[in-house]
Amino acid sequence: MTKNRLKLGIFGFGVVGTGLYQVLEETGSVAANVKKICIKHADKPRPIDKSYFTTDQNELLHDPEINAIVELINDAEAAFEIVSEAMKNGKAVVSANKKMIAEHLPELLALEEKYQVPFLYEASVCASIPIIRNLEEYYDNDLLTSVSGIFNGSTNFILTKMIDENASYPTVLKEAQQLGFAETDPTLDVEGIDPKYKLCIILFHAFGLVTKPEQIFNFGISRINEFDLTFALQRNYAIKLIARCNKQDDEITGFCAPTFIKKNDPLAHVKFEYNGVVLESAFSEHQLMIGKGAGSKPTGSAILSDISALTYDYKYENKKYSHVDKNLKLVNHGEYTVYVRYNDDFHNFNDFNEIIEQFSSPQGKYFIGKINLDTLFNSQWIKDAKVNIIFFNQV
Ligand code: HSE
Repeated sequence: MTKNRLKLGIFGFGVVGTGLYQVLEETGSVAANVKKICIKHADKPRPIDKSYFTTDQNELLHDPEINAIVELINDAEAAFEIVSEAMKNGKAVVSANKKMIAEHLPELLALEEKYQVPFLYEASVCASIPIIRNLEEYYDNDLLTSVSGIFNGSTNFILTKMIDENASYPTVLKEAQQLGFAETDPTLDVEGIDPKYKLCIILFHAFGLVTKPEQIFNFGISRINEFDLTFALQRNYAIKLIARCNKQDDEITGFCAPTFIKKNDPLAHVKFEYNGVVLESAFSEHQLMIGKGAGSKPTGSAILSDISALTYDYKYENKKYSHVDKNLKLVNHGEYTVYVRYNDDFHNFNDFNEIIEQFSSPQGKYFIGKINLDTLFNSQWIKDAKVNIIFFNQV
C-alpha cells in the first residue's frame, strides 16, 4: 500500500501539542512533517524554533501544501470553526477535542460526508487506549452489549491519591492540573462532564447512536468526603468514576457517576491517570483495555496513530451508524442502587422505590436506596452540595 506524505498544520501547542511533536520526532516511521503550528500567545517561550509558529490560522487553513490539520486547542467552539474550515478546504483532520466532537457530532458527520475528507479522533477518548478503532474495526458487528469503565485520568488520579495515600482533594486536584492531566476548566473532569463527552463518542462508534451530552446523566467526585471514604473502606470497596452504556434491544442506557466497585474487580486495579474500558459482547464476553488516559506523550501517541492511519487513507466508516435501527434510543428509566449521604435538610425519601439500609451517627448520615435514573436526573435535591451520591456497580 502506498503511503501519502503528510504536511501537518497543528493548532495548539500545549501539553498535547508538545507531546505530539516529541513523539513525531522520536518516531522515524510516520510519513509526516510539521509545517506550521498556530498558537494564541506569540510571546510564550517555545521549545522549538519560532519559525514554526504563527498566530494567523489562515496560514494553515489556506496553505495548499498542508494536507492535514491537527486540532489540539481547548476552546470547543473555536475548534469547531477550525475543523469545519479545514474540511471545507479539503484537508484531513485529526482532533483530540471530545467536547467539540460530542457537542457537534451531527454537523461533523455532515461535513465529512459533503467534503469527503477523513476526520479521526482516537485521542479524544481515553487517550492512549485504541478504543475507537477497535469499536470501528473489531466490533464492526452488532454483538456488543455494553461499554463501561474509567474514562477520565484526572479523577482516577485524584481518587487513587485520596484513597491509597490519604491525600486531600484540593492538593491532588492541583497536582493533576500541574501534571497536565486536567482540563483547563477542571470542573469538566471532577463533575463527570469530560467522561460523559467520551461516552457520547463511544455511543456513536459502539451502537451508531447520536446523542446530545445533556441527555445523559452525570455526577462527579467533588463532593466525596472522609465519611464516604470510610464507608468504602469498611465495605472493602474502591470508588471509581465510571461511565457506562448498555444496550438492550432498541434501548440504550448511559450515565457517568462515582461508583463503588469491589476490590477484586479488575477496574479497582486501574490507578492514577490510567483508564480502563470494559467491553461486553455476546461471544467474547468481557474484555478490559487499560492504558494511560491523560498526559502529554500517551495522548500524543494516539494522535500519531491517527496521523499514521491518514497516510494510508484510513477513515472511519461509521458502520453502526449507517445500519442503525431507527428505533434505537437513549432511555433513562432503569433502576439503580445508590448510596446517599444526606443531612437534616433532605426530605426526598419518596423518590426512592425502596430504602435498603439507613445509618445515622454524629459524623454523618447515609442511606442506600433504589431509584430510577430519570427520577435522579430530574431531582432538585441532587444539586444540593451537602448531598453526595455514589452508585453501586450493577446494571
Ligand atoms: N482531562 C482529561 C482526563 C484529559 O483527565 O482524562 C484526557 O482526555
